[in-house]
Amino acid sequence: MYVVMMLNLISLSAPAVSLCCVKLENVCCNVRPADRRPEAEDTPSDGTTERPSSAAPPEAQQTMLDTSLASSYQALQRMISGDDAAIIPVSSATKSRAYRHLGGFTGDSAAWYTFVRYCECLLFYVRQEDIVLYLGPSLTMSPQQIFIGGYDHAIDSFIFDEAAGTLTKTNTTFESSPGPSWQHIVPEHRLLFSGCEGPEGGIGYLDSYKIGDDGGLTKVDRKECVQGCVSMDMGKNGFLVTASYDASGVNTYYTKETGEIIPLQTLRFTLPDGQPANPDIDPVRQDAAHPHEARIDPTGKFLLIPDLGSDYLRIFTITYGDKGEDTVISEVEPLKNDIRAGPRHCYFDRTGNFMYLVEELASMVRVYQVEYTGPRGIDFTPVQRISTLGLGRGPADTRIQKLKAAEVAISPDDKHLYVSNRYDRSMPDGTDSIAHFLINTDDGKLTFVELTSAGGINPRHIRLSPDGGWMCIATQDTNRVAMFKRDQESGSILQDVITEGQSGQPVCITW
Ligand SMILES: *[C@@H]1O[C@H](CO)[C@@H](O)[C@H](O)[C@H]1NC(C)=O
Repeated sequence: MYVVMMLNLISLSAPAVSLCCVKLENVCCNVRPADRRPEAEDTPSDGTTERPSSAAPPEAQQTMLDTSLASSYQALQRMISGDDAAIIPVSSATKSRAYRHLGGFTGDSAAWYTFVRYCECLLFYVRQEDIVLYLGPSLTMSPQQIFIGGYDHAIDSFIFDEAAGTLTKTNTTFESSPGPSWQHIVPEHRLLFSGCEGPEGGIGYLDSYKIGDDGGLTKVDRKECVQGCVSMDMGKNGFLVTASYDASGVNTYYTKETGEIIPLQTLRFTLPDGQPANPDIDPVRQDAAHPHEARIDPTGKFLLIPDLGSDYLRIFTITYGDKGEDTVISEVEPLKNDIRAGPRHCYFDRTGNFMYLVEELASMVRVYQVEYTGPRGIDFTPVQRISTLGLGRGPADTRIQKLKAAEVAISPDDKHLYVSNRYDRSMPDGTDSIAHFLINTDDGKLTFVELTSAGGINPRHIRLSPDGGWMCIATQDTNRVAMFKRDQESGSILQDVITEGQSGQPVCITW
């Protein structure tokens, strides 16, 4: 089997080729850039081994990857030359963006895999024994499958048909009850993982499902986690980590391509010394440590856990073992946030140079410059702190106002950032808002642009479509999942809702 990677931004209306989303075992290891270094052949190709980092500086790696991609592209042209050829020229703008994703990472399969993660979509063109892997934000399937987890105890499967302007619920899965509050898709293995908060007995669950072609979910496995799972992320070699708010913990797992889940570590956290008695903290939300998200950095080597209760951004190193079952995380010195910041969610831009942290209790965004130096191996320099509620606003205070920022999203071109505001009710029709910021790609700084309507109350989750053309907004209190058209140039979230669906207390959108 020969596998080649191509990148493009051209829509599926291009040649009438049989493009289909298929299961491809071990995507990261089946990718064979033409000039792949010989020593890589000695490594088992079963996806269980992380290759050592290349010692080459980022610029040299980039040149190597550029060469690799160009020769792969030529090999592909030679290989497929029939009428059904799917060779679509790649624009130089697309290439430069793609290379930016790769820059600074290791030069072999690990880098390709990182790229796969950040493109957030996969398509494969299959012709006899040859599989061509396409990656590109615009190359999403139409219609697209979307999954919505809700506090009403179900995961709803939707089909979003952009051309027809419809968002249609196809399946409802109750097995992740109670509280399927976060989902994560592994497209190459057609798997969906779901974190279930689970209110009884201090126990929550991590569930895995096989995604059917019709969008239906078939349960594969269920393992325990600390109660209150609200987020998860995946690293390399099947490594998965969950964050649990209620009972203050983090769990790690090794997940197989079949969906089987093998539990690894369970960690629990307490408030820093002195915090419980501090009168300046929020006594309700900061009564204990509350991990609110698991976020792995773009190199896959560090784990960030915003801890809303402790005002900490907890930081862990990830050491991948040979087998996947021997991956270990270790906590290093946390980043201390302002008092009553309530760090909730964070997001790296595509270059990996900047990280944006949403402070739920203060309704602020903190911008950090990211560098891989210092005693932790990763360092964050504060660049800016700006309100999500509009110009001239300082940190909010949840002890007196019912306001709380929730989710952050960045456009595929890294130029626009969005944060959802819950219970600000600042829109003329009394709904909550989405804050839009321009990103200065040189220094990461944000400029506030505007607040637009979230189309309902309590926008706990927002997600951009992989091509950036739509924003899906889930408003928990109005049971509404709405698609907003996004102006890709100005970044504005347009007010006209084109399609909408109903879901029970929707809290997580997985695209
Ligand atoms: C999903 O829904 C379709 C009908 O919309 C049904 O045929 C299919 O069996 C369902 N899949 C699962 C796994 O329940």
